[in-house]
Amino acid sequence: MKELRFNGQVAIITGAARGIGFAHAKLLGSRGAKIVINDIAGAKEAVEKLKEMGIEAVADENNSVEIQGAKNIIDTAVNTFGKLDILINNAGVNKALVIDEESEDKFDFIMKVNAYGTRNMCKAAYEYMKNQGYGRIINTTSNAAMYGAGNLFAYSASKGAVYAMTRSLALSAEPYGIKVNAIAPAAATVMAMQESGFTVTDPEILKQTERAMPTEAISPIVAILASNECPVTGKIFETCAGRVNEIFVGTTMGYYDPTFTTETYFEHLDDIRSREDYVVVDDMMSANAIMEVAIKRQYSKQK
Ligand SMILES: NC(=O)c1ccc[n+]([C@@H]2O[C@H](COP(=O)([O-])OP(=O)(O)OC[C@H]3O[C@@H](n4cnc5c(N)ncnc54)[C@H](O)[C@@H]3O)[C@@H](O)[C@H]2O)c1
Repeated sequence: MKELRFNGQVAIITGAARGIGFAHAKLLGSRGAKIVINDIAGAKEAVEKLKEMGIEAVADENNSVEIQGAKNIIDTAVNTFGKLDILINNAGVNKALVIDEESEDKFDFIMKVNAYGTRNMCKAAYEYMKNQGYGRIINTTSNAAMYGAGNLFAYSASKGAVYAMTRSLALSAEPYGIKVNAIAPAAATVMAMQESGFTVTDPEILKQTERAMPTEAISPIVAILASNECPVTGKIFETCAGRVNEIFVGTTMGYYDPTFTTETYFEHLDDIRSREDYVVVDDMMSANAIMEVAIKRQYSKQK
């Protein structure tokens, strides 16, 4: 198979001074992309490292938590490299907390960086990419949001917002040649080992975890989603330690009762929840169509 290349393309990667974002920068940069490393700490050092690898890159220290910060990051790409093709929203913060341990300030902080930061970057990039008639946006959600994680309440909430933004933005962006997808990664980074409730301290086990879950394992699927050959939009890919899988939303066919009585639904709770004939739902319109099919199907059975 031919190699996916990014020659002449420009990518912004937020939170890319270290961890998963830096791995994305290395992969896209090594395949010809010009990179904007956005981070509130360490962006310049990261750019020096990329330059040593022969990658063209520029540092940006704006904060996407504010809409003006996000606009400035887009300007850095356009003013330095002439355009913007790819936005990877990777910046994120975490703190392992159950809801009753969490202060209002901590909740706000996590929501602001993860949800508002992603929203602001999507908005600023969307405006630019819409005019251009082309773009690729890759957001970073989390399996904590997709599956639930009791000790990561604020984090899950913020990444759930990222998931929802990805699904809805993908629909409005498609007519303009913009594809929007998300990843739910897991890798041995500062965040994963120090801020997510990871309790292992044995140095040997820590080393093994780093070897088994490298940041470099996350970037190949991101490169596909960033490429002009990306065949999908609105999709969520989970990736860790070399495995990539798609997370999707499905619905059961449900149970139809035109008299909508509590007792009938209680009696048919197993039917409501039955996974038999479940359907994967792509968007709200197709969910409505599925509802119609389900009602008609049961109605004809009852007649
Ligand atoms: N590592 C995992 O297992 C894991 C799991 C699920 C999701 N994620 C997500 O992957 C992304 C990368 O995480 P990581 O594990 O590499 O974390 P990391 O802590 O190693 O790196 C995060 C980077 O984001 C930067 N950052 C924080 N706030 C910022 C802001 N407002 N603007 C710009 N940069 C900012 C930090 O300075 C840091 O360099 C995050 O969105 C994270 O939530 C990671």
